[in-house]
Amino acid sequence: MNEKNILVGLDIGTTKVCTIVGTKTSETDLEIIGIGTHPSHGLKKGSVVNIDKTVSSIQASLEEAKLMAGVNITQATIGIAGSHIYSFNSSGVVAIKGQEITSDDVDRVIEAAKAVVIPSDRQILHVIPREFRVDNTRGIKNPVGMCGVRLEAHVHVVTGSISLIQNLVKCVEATGVNAENIVLQPIASSESVLSSEEKEMGVILVDIGGGTTDIAVWKEGSLIHSQIIPVGGNHFTNDLAVALKVPHAEAERIKINHGCVLQESVNQSAHITVKGIAGTRPREVAINYIAKVLGARAEELFDIVKEIIAEKDFDQDISGGIVLTGGGALIKSLPELGEYIIGKPTKIGYPSPFGGMTNIMQNPKFSTVMGLLIESGKHKPISISRDQQQPQIDLIGKLSDSLKSVFKEIF
Ligand SMILES: Nc1ncnc2c1ncn2[C@@H]1O[C@H](COP(=O)(O)OP(=O)(O)OP(=O)(O)O)[C@@H](O)[C@H]1O
Ligand SMILES: [Mg+2]
Repeated sequence: MNEKNILVGLDIGTTKVCTIVGTKTSETDLEIIGIGTHPSHGLKKGSVVNIDKTVSSIQASLEEAKLMAGVNITQATIGIAGSHIYSFNSSGVVAIKGQEITSDDVDRVIEAAKAVVIPSDRQILHVIPREFRVDNTRGIKNPVGMCGVRLEAHVHVVTGSISLIQNLVKCVEATGVNAENIVLQPIASSESVLSSEEKEMGVILVDIGGGTTDIAVWKEGSLIHSQIIPVGGNHFTNDLAVALKVPHAEAERIKINHGCVLQESVNQSAHITVKGIAGTRPREVAINYIAKVLGARAEELFDIVKEIIAEKDFDQDISGGIVLTGGGALIKSLPELGEYIIGKPTKIGYPSPFGGMTNIMQNPKFSTVMGLLIESGKHKPISISRDQQQPQIDLIGKLSDSLKSVFKEIF
């Protein structure tokens, strides 16, 4: 297949690196032809802390996806997050030169809106138009072709640390892949999880990953706020490891198989046997106690989200409620607790399906990578027909163990 028609989303997370290879089958439809997922080593709270380990995790995920898709990967759309991300709203005004507003005027006003002083160690990642105003008319999404004398743009600007972005790009390029687009992770997750109605009504996407929780707030179809909170699923696991005095891997197993954040929802008399730290004997632990430990961390996380809503005055803007996604959203009863603390309808958001092996990807931990694939598709032409591709034999056999387990969970 022509490499130019290949779309690749590459999500370098704190717990896993995931690659999806797809092709565009029509202007709006995509088809997945390859998936690769590998445990991530070398990142902390979304930022690279060990280049060699990060490169080999990316390499392993790319190899798996290449093998399944039967194509070579030369470029990818990558996601970025981490505590270094800072975003803010800005605006700019220009006088309209001709009789009608042209795309040149729009470019000029966006340039004006992003002409703000940012520290020299930061770079702009995204400038997302929220609304345009022509003379006194507000709420315009596309002003091209309209008449007026004054054009104003209100934009959301996302910035990140130049060196931390370069570290990530360097790791990707060390595997021979060009990072063609860099997309903020919560923007990518929103792309795959939220419907346009939700974005229009006003919604907060909360992507609970391993190292960070990424937030994106949408209103009237536009992104109005984004923020990275340095608390993720790994903090829940660490809390359990400390409280139960068990190794990290055992704490992760307990969280996934027996975790819940509402003490009232668990069997009050049930106990499970847990492995102690090397040399100690297995012990009995009340499920109720596990829920208490996890519940305390979940409460902290939702309190932070609630504070952001209060601080930025979003309460009236988010009638669509809260959508939780990311692997960390899978702990039982999280939506119920979120709804109770924040006082807004809360649900789990799954990546929306499209052609190919999407049922395997119907898991909140793949929301970001699915969104990155969609973002990649926005910049690519429609692909050639499928029968010109290389034959794909035993796709399931080529899935990694982690994907096989997701597959088993579904069927
Ligand atoms: N079934 C499950 N129940 C509870 N937690 C889960 C489950 N599956 C995964 N997790 C948790 O989800 C977290 C990983 O989520 P995800 O894969 O979205 O993170 P990531 O993208 O690697 O990290 P980040 O986005 O922070 O860089 C881990 O903390 C893991 O323990
Ligand atoms: Mg993630």
